[in-house]
Amino acid sequence: MGVEVVVDGLTKSFGRQVVWEDVSLTLPAGEISVLLGPSGTGKSVFLKTLVGLLRPDRGHIWIDGHDLAHCGERKLYELRRLFGVLFQDGALFGSLNLYDNIAFPLREHTKKTEAEIRRIVMAKIDLVGLVGAEGKLPGEISGGMRKRAGLARALVLDPEIILFDEPDSGLDPVRTAFLNQTIVDINADIEATFLIVTHDINTARTVPDNIGLLFRRELVMFGPREMLLSSDEPVVRQFLNARRHGPIGMSEEKDVSELEAEAQMGHDPGGLPPIPPQLMPSGNTIRRSQQPPGRWLAANGVIPPQGSFVDELGRDWLEEYPRLIDAHLNGAK
Ligand SMILES: Nc1ncnc2c1ncn2[C@@H]1O[C@H](COP(=O)(O)OP(=O)(O)O)[C@@H](O)[C@H]1O
Ligand SMILES: [Mg+2]
Repeated sequence: MGVEVVVDGLTKSFGRQVVWEDVSLTLPAGEISVLLGPSGTGKSVFLKTLVGLLRPDRGHIWIDGHDLAHCGERKLYELRRLFGVLFQDGALFGSLNLYDNIAFPLREHTKKTEAEIRRIVMAKIDLVGLVGAEGKLPGEISGGMRKRAGLARALVLDPEIILFDEPDSGLDPVRTAFLNQTIVDINADIEATFLIVTHDINTARTVPDNIGLLFRRELVMFGPREMLLSSDEPVVRQFLNARRHGPIGMSEEKDVSELEAEAQMGHDPGGLPPIPPQLMPSGNTIRRSQQPPGRWLAANGVIPPQGSFVDELGRDWLEEYPRLIDAHLNGAK
């Protein structure tokens, strides 16, 4: 069931520009984590560093007892095989149809026969909901379908860790909702460790088990979804609620005079909006790493705002969840 990734004191700079400093976090095995941050804060650089495409200046990336940040080329090649990566644009080969794009890593990295490859590719195509489109070229399909094809390709080598770079960028809200459901369903199915970089607030609020926020060259906070959604740390509160009021300005950081003006106006940063229920896998299943709604809040004595954990169909997940667990356990007997 996935592997844990422990990032410890990671720092990355390009020349004299420090991208981020002293980043420490743990991606728990099998869980879905989201990394947020204004553009240019180094989210993509972070993903590339995790897979070993970029080397950090300092710090460690522990996977299975090995430090990916400091190991030799051979070990790095081995560790990279644990990863599947969905790049921002899907990174498909334009002249290959979807089938051949998705089969590519298998043909490149394994000695499987074409019959075995066919079985794996068609299973992944089914998993991402692309059945029937396998003969199409990337240029003939929508952006949403290209992301799905990129996801299928990231899955063919059965990764233990999957990194998603803005899977929802350029998609309309409905396609984003479908893709998010697919991501949650795949996590329920393969139980790999997921890290999703996004700046879609709705994705961040509803999909992950954990949320991290990069801002001003540091990781402001990383922890359980309910912890960040109820946090009153100003940057976290502002970003997760898409507000204008707070330390983040138009050009990423507000200057001192802007902040002083705001403080003098005495604006209330705004109360906490209801905490939405986490997106559940379809078909009445639960993910192995799923936590019941409200668990972190209750354990930490935080009372959620009125209307928390109610979904768009009006179902209250504080009541719905135990029912689902019962049904699940009965079904498993
Ligand atoms: N290969 C590179 N060489 C030099 N600078 C880079 C390189 N890759 C990214 N950067 C710089 O690192 C910063 C963070 O970039 P990036 O990770 O793409 O941000 P984000 O994904 O959060 O929008 C940017 O200032 C970018 O210009
Ligand atoms: Mg990026």
